[in-house]
Amino acid sequence: MSFYDKDIISIRDLNREQIEEILKVSEKMVPYAMGEKKTKVLEGRILGNLFFEPSTRTRLSFESAAHRLGVDVIDVSEMSMTSISKGETLADTIRMVDAYCDLIVLRHPHEGAARLAAKFSENPVINAGDGAGSHPTQTLLDLFTIKRAMKDIDGANVVLVGDLKYGRTVHSLVEALTMFGAKLTFVAPETLQMPDDNIKGLRGKPLLTDKLEDVIQDADVLYVTRIQRERFPDPSEYNKVSGTYRIDNEMLREAKSDLIVMHPLPRVDEIAPEVDGTPHAKYFEQAFNGIPVRMALLYMILGGEGL
Ligand code: CP
Repeated sequence: MSFYDKDIISIRDLNREQIEEILKVSEKMVPYAMGEKKTKVLEGRILGNLFFEPSTRTRLSFESAAHRLGVDVIDVSEMSMTSISKGETLADTIRMVDAYCDLIVLRHPHEGAARLAAKFSENPVINAGDGAGSHPTQTLLDLFTIKRAMKDIDGANVVLVGDLKYGRTVHSLVEALTMFGAKLTFVAPETLQMPDDNIKGLRGKPLLTDKLEDVIQDADVLYVTRIQRERFPDPSEYNKVSGTYRIDNEMLREAKSDLIVMHPLPRVDEIAPEVDGTPHAKYFEQAFNGIPVRMALLYMILGGEGL
């Protein structure tokens, strides 16, 4: 199975077998990601990190993953620092960056931007989030986290809660979870429920509700998301739904003892800090898992050998 030179734009670009292969290589990367083992297996290669929307985890974990493999990084984190601010198109910007590196990682506010970049780049492109579209590497690290915590994703009861309309991480994740046979429940206020288009393509029929208290008892995974204030066309609509769900220790008393709580982060107030110290909290480990998973992708796409 070759990943050499492959674009990763949507989780739909991968089948279950390919995802399992990435998760297997990710597991091998853990000691390198932790600095327990050292390698320069991709020395001489250059990663172009283009982040035209804010990011902490995705940008820095790609950068850390690159350094752990001996890859050099060139990066831009603001459009105003590029010639886009002088009117250059994204297509021309991508053509230029393509000439300066071996692989492009792009985060962009517009859905479809990564697909467009892949069209204009000779080198592979990884989508690091395109507007409310998708975030496939987040999905891979989410799956890796579930697999490490539960061994088996098949049959897991996954409850997704929060902003399921604008939260791009959940759009990619639910597609992958149904590929793996997970049972899905979507908990959101009516205005932020999972869009019909995202439900239509799913295998199996998810349960939709706005009442977390009705479903938390049976959950194996509680995947919490932030309400995406920046994507609301009307700020007053945000005020109506902000703070709808808050996970705290009182709420978790109803849950299974081995429930894992995940969150792609950043969080605002969806998870009380008191949860951080409980065995349920997996979100910081989840964020760390971005490093081995992104190492695996760089290694496989750039044709690494020998680890
Ligand atoms: N989860 C995630 O994409 O975080 P950042 O926005 O900080 O990259």
